[in-house]
Order: sequence, then C-alpha cells, then structure tokens
Amino acid sequence: MCQRLLAKRGHDVQLVDPLDVGMADVFKPHFAYAEGRAPQALSDLAMKISAADGYVMVSPEYNHSMSPALAHLLNHFGASRFAWKPSAIVTYSAGQWGGARAAMGMRGFLSELGCLPVSAMTHIPKAQEVLNDDGAWTLDAEKWDGYVGRTLGQLEWWAEAAQRQRVEGDTAPTGAFDRDPSQRNAP
Ligand SMILES: Cc1cc2nc3c(=O)[nH]c(=O)nc-3n(C[C@H](O)[C@H](O)[C@H](O)COP(=O)(O)O)c2cc1C
Repeated sequence: MCQRLLAKRGHDVQLVDPLDVGMADVFKPHFAYAEGRAPQALSDLAMKISAADGYVMVSPEYNHSMSPALAHLLNHFGASRFAWKPSAIVTYSAGQWGGARAAMGMRGFLSELGCLPVSAMTHIPKAQEVLNDDGAWTLDAEKWDGYVGRTLGQLEWWAEAAQRQRVEGDTAPTGAFDRDPSQRNAP
C-alpha cells in the first residue's frame, strides 16, 4: 500500500523486509565489522539506507511496542546513515488501536537514529480486514489513500527540504562520533 502510494507520487521505493535480509545469520552491527568483512546482506542494506532521502517505517504492534524484527534490523546500523533525513511512522494491528501505542515508542527510537519522524502518523486497525494480500484497501479506498497521503505528504516535504540542505547547505552541525558516544556527554 505504501509502495503503491509513493510510486504514484513519483518516488523510487525500495522495500526492505527483515525476513528477506536473513537477520538470523547476523550477529554484530554493520559498523562493528572490520572494513570489507561485514556480511554482504548487511553491506547492501547499509548502502540502501545511505542512499535514501527518507524512510517509511512500517510496523505491527507487539506488546504495545514496535516489531522486534524491525528494531533488530535498525539496531544493526549506525545513526549517521539515517541522520538528516525524515521518517514516517505507519503502524497496524489486528485490534482496534492500529498500533498507536507502538508508534509512541517509535518516535523516540527514530529520533535517536537521527531520522526524525514527521508529525502525521498512519495507524491501521484491523489490518487483516482493511487490506487484502496485495496491499489494496477492501473498502473506502479513497478515504484511506487520503489518510495515508497526509503522512506521505509530510514525509515528502521534509525529505525534499532536507535533501536540498544536505546538498546546498552548511555542513551538518554534528557528525558521527569519531571516538565514542561519550563525545556528546555534558561537561
Ligand atoms: C507477541 C504478540 C504481541 C502482540 N501485541 C499486540 C499489542 O500489544 N497490541 C495489538 O493491537 N496487537 C498485538 N498483537 C497482534 C498483532 O499486532 C497482529 O497480529 C499483527 O497483525 C501482527 O503483524 P505481523 O503478522 O505482520 O507480524 C500481538 C501479536 C503478537 C504475536
């Protein structure tokens, strides 16, 4: 559904599914491997993350939290790959809240990664009834497209603005840590 709506807006969309990355075979974060020694699947994904101008983070709700598979995947990459680009939160669940509680935790998580989430979020309750297996709405397609479009429109606006600033603006005020995270500590 997100792929379809983003493609309609003219964007190149890369789908990343933790199931396809083979995370069960991966133990260390990408940045913890010596140069050129990381598993190929992690390195390929690192390049994709770096190349993106924005991220749509899609998650079901598990115990009022984001998908552990998504958190596990994201935890394998340093924040500098995501930083200075926006993200959008799209959650779903089988129940009535559409993953809204998971989304609250995702805001903090994604902010720490540096891809600040836009304010409009998409929550899809009873996802198994609302979407079919092809990602099409079963009812009220125009209304749902409009609802998701609000989130994607914000993402698009911020992604374009951030991309312009990364190309034309001053160097980012804080770079990646070059020694360790204590570099950001209070004096
Ligand atoms: C371990 C577990 C915990 C869950 N916790 C919640 C929850 O806190 N809130 C909720 O609305 N649904 C919860 N669900 C239901 C899932 O959101 C729902 O089954 C969803 O469709 C799972 O998506 P997936 O099949 O893509 O993983 C939970 C499901 C599982 C298996």
